[in-house]
Amino acid sequence: MKRLLLSICFFVAITAFAQEKLTITHGPYLQHLTDNSVNIIWTTSSDAVSWVELAPNDSTHFYLKERPKYYSAEYGFKDVSRLHIIRLTNLTPATTYRYRVYSQEVLSHEGTKVQYGTVAATNVYSAKPLKFTTTDQLKESKTSFVMVNDIHGRNDLLENLLNKADYKSAGFIFFNGDMVSDMRSEEQLFEGFMDTAVRLFAKEKPMYYARGNHETRGNFASTFPQYFASPSGKMYYLLRRGPVCFVVLDCGEDKPDSDIEYSGIVAFDQYRDAERSWLQEALKSPEFKDAPFRVCVIHMPPFGGWHGEEEIATKFVPLLNEAKIDVMLCGHLHKYLNQKPANGLNFPVIVNSNNTVLKAEATSEQLTMKILNEKGEQVDLIQLKK
Ligand SMILES: [Fe+2]
Repeated sequence: MKRLLLSICFFVAITAFAQEKLTITHGPYLQHLTDNSVNIIWTTSSDAVSWVELAPNDSTHFYLKERPKYYSAEYGFKDVSRLHIIRLTNLTPATTYRYRVYSQEVLSHEGTKVQYGTVAATNVYSAKPLKFTTTDQLKESKTSFVMVNDIHGRNDLLENLLNKADYKSAGFIFFNGDMVSDMRSEEQLFEGFMDTAVRLFAKEKPMYYARGNHETRGNFASTFPQYFASPSGKMYYLLRRGPVCFVVLDCGEDKPDSDIEYSGIVAFDQYRDAERSWLQEALKSPEFKDAPFRVCVIHMPPFGGWHGEEEIATKFVPLLNEAKIDVMLCGHLHKYLNQKPANGLNFPVIVNSNNTVLKAEATSEQLTMKILNEKGEQVDLIQLKK
């Protein structure tokens, strides 16, 4: 009996120890990659201080010497959190770097004493260090990307569509909204699509988000933007990649703000007014005006007759017409549509379906977009020339 009790105690102690060990729960993944900077984001099983070690992409082993450390810190204090967002700055354009992420658990902070727990890190010994390459946004002579939307948590489909589009050969990925059906928790965000994105590409290849109407639903929806940093700090922004300037817009909700579905917690008409003011200025910038191709990425199309779609048609489309965008890329309808310029739209609107993928390549002379289905068959081919 005594031996049995001892065994149980030992088992409980081992279990407790195992539960306490700090782990990286999701990520790392890249966000807001520029010519000189990038955000590295990951989460841990409990509160920790975190840092990134950075090394050049040369032939030396990562363990050759102590590598420079980058911390997330504000007001001179290292952040203690489960969500780690570390911005690496002062990087060289068009340069590949190797990186390693670290977290050390913070057990307590009383007075001036901080007690630390275990450390978790990505591997640089049995696995190769992770890599990323900074951009050279105005000088890149060509660019390529893959766009998916309306995945609604279907990880198998996400992986299949990305593979059919040969995502490994693309420069970056767009998630054009409704990647999940609502936003209730961090776990849902990662289990819904981001863990798959991290496993396939997001550790080393950048992705950009155009928020869908479904990402605005649920009690985690207001926290969600923290996980996806953008160049403007908002969910709408300009992204210049070589010959293309992307105008990434946030569509907001599809029904009127007063609809029963939103429980009185949304103010998207007001939000789209502010977005319009931002857009008016953004379209005057050299990075937009000097770009050979101008592509608007927005989840909801400016037609269909619902309130949100009408808002896009009246608040954004006149500005986009005037700015002479070349094409608008949408989702939302769960069917494929190639809408030629008509009915107040001076540009074509490509609506990617919930089971197709868009693969695009651009030079300063030509923008080619292929739409592929789940079997990899070509649904459409669009070629825009200058
Ligand atoms: Fe949608």
